[in-house]
Order: sequence, then structure tokens, then C-alpha cells
Amino acid sequence: MKKLIVGNFKMNTTVKEFAVYLDKFLPKVKDSKSDVVLCLPYTHLMLASQKLVSTEVNFGSQNISIDTSGAHTGEVSANMVKDLGATYTIIGHSEIRKRFKETNEQVNQKIINALGVNLKVILCIGETKTEKNANKTAAVLKKQIDIALKGLYENELKNIIIAYEPCWAIGTGNVASSKDIENAVKTIRKVIEEDFSEKAAEKMLVLYGGSTKLENFNSILKVKGVNGLLVGGACLDADVFAKMV
Ligand code: 13P
Repeated sequence: MKKLIVGNFKMNTTVKEFAVYLDKFLPKVKDSKSDVVLCLPYTHLMLASQKLVSTEVNFGSQNISIDTSGAHTGEVSANMVKDLGATYTIIGHSEIRKRFKETNEQVNQKIINALGVNLKVILCIGETKTEKNANKTAAVLKKQIDIALKGLYENELKNIIIAYEPCWAIGTGNVASSKDIENAVKTIRKVIEEDFSEKAAEKMLVLYGGSTKLENFNSILKVKGVNGLLVGGACLDADVFAKMV
């Protein structure tokens, strides 16, 4: 099965710099064996829609609004993202959960909005260092999944991808161990089985994210149950990311 390699640009690059990036990146991934998604700042989506239309590279946003339209200054709706040809959005990234105190219930509403316009969702979950040290990882992941996917029908899960991103591994250089990743992925599938079915759990795509780089990505992809990667910092270098792809 093809691996899914997602790049999260976060708040990096201007549109001009992104254009230069694509000129370098696209020829290198033309015959890639993986599925590729670039999750971009909203400002980059229009250029992505023009440059990626005839390529195999998909793109998406890093968030969407909890609302669908109206007087919400500074917000961007799922429909606006979809309208530009995006096919994915990240929801529930820990940087957003933390800074904006985003709750699991808000994550659930955003997922409903995204699915409503046919955007695929990359749902980010993961525990903090304190929670890990208190042996609460499984409980935290369960709660995040239970609430985020509340009210969804099983057939909607084909548009959900779960990214396990332990907070303590993001941008720190401290990549999770293979054992930690394997355990987390097992927990994720167990929760999906409890909430939906065994079949749903088997089919669910699960990614790992957190300090992935050239030196470690191959061994992470070999961890049982891992279907791909959600790459932050390392995706900003077109050469490095193309190699990972
Ligand atoms: P880094 O790869 O920079 O640790 O970021 C991971 C991440 O948060 C991707 O969403």
C-alpha cells in the first residue's frame, strides 16, 4: 500500500518563496511511489490550485473555521478552502489546540464542517510530556478520538486520517521511539474498533508526526501500522522533502 506523506508548512514562506519551492519540488516527485499532500498557509492556496492542478500532488489548509460563514473576522471556512481546489485540511493540530485553547468539541465541529464540503481531514492527536510521564497517553488519545469523531457515520471515516503527533516530539528533535509509536497506533485502532468496527479500524490511515527527518523517517515508516508521515520543519527544504516522498 502507498504511504501518505504530508508536509505541514505551518507559518513559513511567502507566496514567492513557495513558487520557487514548487519549481524545485515538483520535478523531483513526479514519479514518486507515495501519495503527497502539502498543507499550506491560506495565502498559498490560490497558487497551489494553479500549479498543482495537473500534478499528482494534493494540497490543503492547516485549519478551518468552526463556523461556515458570517461575521467572523479573520476566519476562513471549509467551503472557502474547498473552493480553491484543496482536498485536505489539518484539524486539531496541537499548536492550535494550545494557543487558541481549541477543545475536542470544537475539533468535532470543524470535522463536521470539513466533511460537509468533501474535504479530507487530517485529525491531529497526541499527548503532552506530562501526560506521557503520568502514563496517560492511551486515555488522552481515546478521549481526543471519541469526541472528535462523535456523531460520524462509519462510511465517513474514509475521509479521515489520524496523525499521532506527541506534543513533546513536535519541533524538538525528540522523535518518539518505534515502541511508543507502535503502542499509540495500536491504541488508535482499538478506539476506532470500539467506536465503529474492526473493519473501520483496519482501514483507518494513521500517520506519525514529530521531528521526522531524513535520518529517521525510514525506520518510522517501518513501524507496524504506520501508513505515512506528517512532516513539519523537514518539509520546508524541497530537496529533503522530495527525498522523503
Ligand atoms: P516537526 O516535524 O517540525 O517536528 O513538526 C511536526 C508537526 O507538527 C507536523 O504537523
